[in-house]
Amino acid sequence: MKKEIKVAANLLQQGYVVAIPTETVYGLAANAFDEKALAQIFEIKKRPLFNPLIVHIKSIDYLHTIAKNIPAIALDLANHFWPGALTLVLEKKSIIPDIVTGGKNTVGIRIPSHTIALSLLEKLDFPLAAPSANPFGYISPTTSEHVKKQLGDKIPYILEGGSCEKGIESTIIGFENNKPILYRVGAISKEEIEKIIGKIETKNTASASPEAPGMLSKHYSPKTKFFVSENISDNIENNINKNIGFLLFKKTSQPLSYNKYIQLSLNEDINEAAQNLYAAMHRLDAMNFEAIYAEKVPEKGIGISINDRLYRAQEENFDFTIE
Ligand code: TXA
Ligand code: MG
Repeated sequence: MKKEIKVAANLLQQGYVVAIPTETVYGLAANAFDEKALAQIFEIKKRPLFNPLIVHIKSIDYLHTIAKNIPAIALDLANHFWPGALTLVLEKKSIIPDIVTGGKNTVGIRIPSHTIALSLLEKLDFPLAAPSANPFGYISPTTSEHVKKQLGDKIPYILEGGSCEKGIESTIIGFENNKPILYRVGAISKEEIEKIIGKIETKNTASASPEAPGMLSKHYSPKTKFFVSENISDNIENNINKNIGFLLFKKTSQPLSYNKYIQLSLNEDINEAAQNLYAAMHRLDAMNFEAIYAEKVPEKGIGISINDRLYRAQEENFDFTIE
């Protein structure tokens, strides 16, 4: 593995964009201080420039190199959750170029909890700006294969790191008048965060110019029409002979043939479901169904984040009738 990390480090030092593994999803990384390299991220992803990038750092100490006026609560959260799937949006220092932050005076920062990503960061004397390594609006990648399929011809290297352990993007917290605000639900549940800092307000809504455009209402979408259902057994029953795929959380008692569905976790384990979510969406999307119905998961803990991603993947006009 050492050799591969060195290859990635060399390319990044030369200003190339490289896909890297993290515990949440794969990222499309570049030197966070190199504007030319950063511009390529936006080009490769076809990502609008107003949509800021997350900066990945190697240590809590390093935080002070790129952020200032850091609220005490932010440090508490960093100490508790880093390395981990929590992104903190903090006031940026001028060393962070505007292209990273979409012109905002804040920057999203986290330490990834992935040994390969951390060894890579150790080798570099700059942090890595990295959005998820998918074309804008499409399903996030949780394996190197996903990255290869979507962006393989556009980047010089994909650093292999296995399947992502969490499978869903980081939770994003920012501050308004020193008060913490939850901007994106993610791999760390709101409950876990509230255990450390008490009740936190959520602003996880879609709008034309959202704080975190990961919240744009249509996002994380497969190419196949995608619908979320609260009553999947009815949907299965009504569509059993049609070319429709199902993304299930619970075991179904209906006679659905094996090539028509994926169950996210055989034990109905919510963490495993999160881990498998995007891979299952990628697979169903490649199966040429006319549409995919996804079962809403129990709305608690990490299930809230899974449902968030399912609803964002959903067709905007929910008037689904296939004859
Ligand atoms: O788990 C993750 O967060 C992954 C891995 C690669 O670290 N990254 C990821 O990046 O999900 P991306 O670009 O797909 O989503 C980052 C989100 C965006 O929606 C962006 O708007 C938000 O973070 N963000 C970044 N900086 C921000 C800022 N200064 N203010 C508000 N939102 C910000
Ligand atoms: Mg993304």
